[in-house]
Amino acid sequence: MNPAPQDSACSPTAQRDSLAAMPGYASSCGRVTLYLGDSVELRHLVPADAAIISDPPYGMKLDTDNSRFSGGNTASVARCGNGIGTGKGKGIINDEKPFDPSPWLAWEKVVLFGSNHFGARLPVGTKLIWIKRLDDAFGSFLSDAEEAWMKGGHGIYCKRDLTMNGEALTRQHPCQKPVPLMAWCMDKAKVPAGAVVVDPYMGSGSTIIAAIRTGRKAIGFEQDPEHFANAVQRITNELAQGDLFLGHNAADQATASGGR
Ligand SMILES: C[S@@+](CC[C@H](N)C(=O)[O-])C[C@H]1O[C@@H](n2cnc3c(N)ncnc32)[C@H](O)[C@@H]1O
Repeated sequence: MNPAPQDSACSPTAQRDSLAAMPGYASSCGRVTLYLGDSVELRHLVPADAAIISDPPYGMKLDTDNSRFSGGNTASVARCGNGIGTGKGKGIINDEKPFDPSPWLAWEKVVLFGSNHFGARLPVGTKLIWIKRLDDAFGSFLSDAEEAWMKGGHGIYCKRDLTMNGEALTRQHPCQKPVPLMAWCMDKAKVPAGAVVVDPYMGSGSTIIAAIRTGRKAIGFEQDPEHFANAVQRITNELAQGDLFLGHNAADQATASGGR
């Protein structure tokens, strides 16, 4: 288990005390809280007015060893822009069993990626489609797009985002989503600025970073200690850059420059 990251610019709070029983992270600006653990078991920590924006395990037993597509050359597969990256063959926690979305359906605003895998367990809703390659490359390799279900409505909306293609060798998680894509989902769900976004399956933390960049608060859960540590690193780096537009994160900036 990784120890909880220390944030010396932040004075102790009741929230931090409650986290002491469990490795976690709370930003000194109060906008971000991260839990290492099973989000389903910990869902009592999710505020009733939060928006659930997430990319859960789909229940597809994903083989993350992408080098199988290229005779061992992971880099060449990654450069194809297939939307997946180097997973080193390590499986995704809980991906070996069908995903059950029911624990999250009571919240008013919900977006869940991978809904083509568990749509039978969802009511009618809006579809958000991430197109992850150019027209010329349609049909070339694996899926051209990924689908998310959004609670309410019944329309279908698309966003083309190719940013993960160039990130293939530096991505932190085999299922990493582009930050602008997750921000788009928040906008489609009409999550107001300043509201709390919760990602119960945060992986490398793309949803959390999207919330930070768009002036929202964020709570993330991740069960895999390695992914949790990567997410904390990515998110503290993001917070350390400060927020040029909203003036947030000054304390985190000071902490980071203090040599944490
Ligand atoms: C599809 S990945 C999310 C990737 C993420 N969208 C990103 O951009 O990095 C799902 C993540 O959920 C985590 N996970 C699975 N079951 C979980 C649970 N019950 N509680 C918390 N995390 C869980 C897995 O370890 C995995 O990292």
